[in-house]
Amino acid sequence: MKLLENKHVLITGCRKGIGRATLEKFASHGASIWAHVRSMTPEFQSSAAETASKYGVEIHPIGFDLNDEDAVKAGFKEILQHKKPIDILVNNAGILPESRLFPMTPIQQVRDVMQTNFISAIFLTQLVSRCMIRQKDGVILFLASVAGLNLDGDTATFEYSASKAALVAAVKKLARELAPFHIRVNAVAPGLVETEMVRSVKESFIQQTVEATLLKRPGKPEEVADALLFLASNMSSFITGEVLRVDGGR
Ligand SMILES: NC(=O)c1ccc[n+]([C@@H]2O[C@H](COP(=O)([O-])OP(=O)(O)OC[C@H]3O[C@@H](n4cnc5c(N)ncnc54)[C@H](OP(=O)(O)O)[C@@H]3O)[C@@H](O)[C@H]2O)c1
Repeated sequence: MKLLENKHVLITGCRKGIGRATLEKFASHGASIWAHVRSMTPEFQSSAAETASKYGVEIHPIGFDLNDEDAVKAGFKEILQHKKPIDILVNNAGILPESRLFPMTPIQQVRDVMQTNFISAIFLTQLVSRCMIRQKDGVILFLASVAGLNLDGDTATFEYSASKAALVAAVKKLARELAPFHIRVNAVAPGLVETEMVRSVKESFIQQTVEATLLKRPGKPEEVADALLFLASNMSSFITGEVLRVDGGR
């Protein structure tokens, strides 16, 4: 069964990791996709075209830096020119800062993390939500993290945890505000998932995190994409304002 047929989806940060897996998963379920990347490359364009022909769907690659407001507005305008609804937004792009002790953390690092993980996602969401309000329909998804939920036990840096906790707060608030327009707002909160993002993380931290889960292994990007698929589709039509842990249990 294809869960996203006739749906138009915008996914941010599709070049690699969870975004790439979500692009593949959503395409396999019949979605038409605006596949966002920070900067467009011929490699991404050809791999998006391959995925589109594999599943018989439309994939429009689109490139802009989410931290550049003018570029986001221009990119969004390009999307609107297609004269198609945006049924689903997946705010996936994010960064994991270098791990430093709090007193040694440059304030610019805090700004960068809050900007990319929170403010940029919220800015795009604001633009998209205006269309969804007119449509009186939509699904908005965020990539939170267990780091934004386990605030007393997680070992992620404070600014990463804060940026993801801010998204959790946004999910709760936006779900309430947008529900009258039939817009559902949810998030997934992954635990440790094998992507490039965690390659810079110390092996001892990875071991310790995996050991603390019930399933005793890191997650795969496809497993997060499965949870996003559920929340994007009508399978979750009565769910809003929720943060779904995809973390191997604890
Ligand atoms: N992996 C985990 O263990 C884990 C756990 C919990 C939550 N998450 C969250 O899941 C999401 C995806 O993570 P991932 O593991 O797949 O990370 P990843 O492999 O590092 O991919 C992140 C993507 O975000 C894009 N991006 C970052 N900053 C951007 C910007 N300013 N403008 C446009 N694109 C930007 C990157 O673009 P480039 O390709 O150009 O760098 C990249 O494609 C993130 O929000 C992350 O915080 C991940």
